[in-house]
Amino acid sequence: MTEGREPGPPAIVSERQEQVRDCLRAVIDPELGDTIVDLGMVRDITVTGNDVVVDVALTIAACPLRTQIETDVRGQVASLDWVESVEIRVASMDATERAAVMARARWKAREDAPETAVADSTRVLAIASGKGGVGKSSVTVNLAVALARRGLTVGILDADIWGFSVPRLLGMEGDVEARGGKMVPLEKAFGSGLVRVLSMGFLAGEEQAIMWRGLVLNRAVQQFLQDAHWGDLDYLLIDLPPGTGDVQMGLARLLPRTEMLVVTTPPLAAQKVAARAADMARKGYLRVAGVIENMSDFTCEHGTTYALFGSGGGARLAHSLGVPLIGSIPLHPDLAAAGDAGLPVADGDGELAAFFAEVARTVAEEVAPMVEASGCSARLIARVEAAVAAGDVPA
Ligand SMILES: Nc1ncnc2c1ncn2[C@@H]1O[C@H](COP(=O)(O)OP(=O)(O)O)[C@@H](O)[C@H]1O
Ligand SMILES: [Mg+2]
Repeated sequence: MTEGREPGPPAIVSERQEQVRDCLRAVIDPELGDTIVDLGMVRDITVTGNDVVVDVALTIAACPLRTQIETDVRGQVASLDWVESVEIRVASMDATERAAVMARARWKAREDAPETAVADSTRVLAIASGKGGVGKSSVTVNLAVALARRGLTVGILDADIWGFSVPRLLGMEGDVEARGGKMVPLEKAFGSGLVRVLSMGFLAGEEQAIMWRGLVLNRAVQQFLQDAHWGDLDYLLIDLPPGTGDVQMGLARLLPRTEMLVVTTPPLAAQKVAARAADMARKGYLRVAGVIENMSDFTCEHGTTYALFGSGGGARLAHSLGVPLIGSIPLHPDLAAAGDAGLPVADGDGELAAFFAEVARTVAEEVAPMVEASGCSARLIARVEAAVAAGDVPA
C-alpha cells in the first residue's frame, strides 16, 4: 500500500519515475505497433518509496489485450531492482484521446504494411534466439504439435532458409504445390489439430528449384507470408534463423504484429545473445512475449538431476527482460533422437510431451492467448472510425 509512506526525496522520486517510464517502453501494444508510453497510454506514474502505481488508459475498456498489457506492465516495473510493489490502475480513453492514438504515425505505417496471407485472427509468434543450436527449431516444432493437440490449427513458417530443419523434425516430406500461383503448405494432423508447414525443404527438389527460382531465395520469407494459402490458422509460429539480422527486421515491416518467444539455454553467455535478440525485436516494436529455457536440468536414469549448463538462466533472462519464463525443457536424449526420427516428442505421452503440453497451455492461456483478435480493440475501432469518418455509419 502506498498510503502513509514517506514519498522520499523529490529528486529520487522523479528519477525513479523516469526509470519506470523508461522500462515501460518495452511494453508494446501489438495491435497498435508502438510502445504504450509513446501511445500516451501511460497516464501517470506514482512512486512512493519502493512502491509504484501506474495509471494506464486503454483504447477501450473491454480491450481483450487488457490482461496482457497489465501483465507486461507488471513484469517490466518489477524488473527494476528497487521496486517492491506494483499497482496498476486501468481506465479507458475518451474519444479525443482515442483519436490521438489512432492518428499516430506507426499505426498508419502498420496499416500500410503489405497484405499477407495470414488471417487477422492468427496470433503470430516468432521463435528467436541469438545463436544457433539452442533448440529453436525443436521448440518451434514441439510447441506447434502441442498446440495442435489442443485442437488448434498451427502454421509453421520455416524462416531458416539456408538451414531449414522443420521438415525433418516433423517427419514431413514432399513438394509444395501451387494453387492459383500460391504455395500450399504441407499439412499433418496431430491429435485433433493440424500443423501446416512451409519450408525451403519442400522447395529444394530440382524441378521445384527451377519452378520457384527468382520467386524465392532472398525473398522467401516474404513469399511464404504473402503468396501462400495458410487458411485460418490459430497460431503461426515462425522458426527464425540464428542471429538478430534481416529476417527479424523484415518481419517487423511485413507482419508488425509478430511477437517473440525467446529461447535460451542456461549458460550466461547464451542469455546475453538471447537478450540481444530481444533488444532487436523491441527496436522494431515487436512485443517480446516470453522466454523458454531449453536444455535445462538433465535427469539420469537413476533419478539424479544434473544442471549441466548451470541453472536459473532462463529465469534470469526473463526477469531482466521483464517477461514471463514460459517453461524449462530438460536436456534429454529422447528429444534429439525423436527429432532425428521425425517423430516429435510432443506427440507422445511421455514426460517430455508433458513439458511441451504445459508450455503450450501457458502460451495459449496466459502469454499469448487467442484474443478474439479480429474483433479486438485497435483494428475494430479503426474500422468503425474510418466508417464513421466516411459517413458510412452514423456516429
Ligand atoms: N532439450 C533438448 N535435449 C536434448 N537435445 C536437444 C534438446 N533441444 C535440442 N536438442 C538437440 O540439439 C540440436 C540443436 O537443436 P535445434 O532445434 O536444431 O536448434 P536451433 O534451431 O536453435 O539451431 C539438435 O540436434 C536437437 O535434437
Ligand atoms: Mg534451427
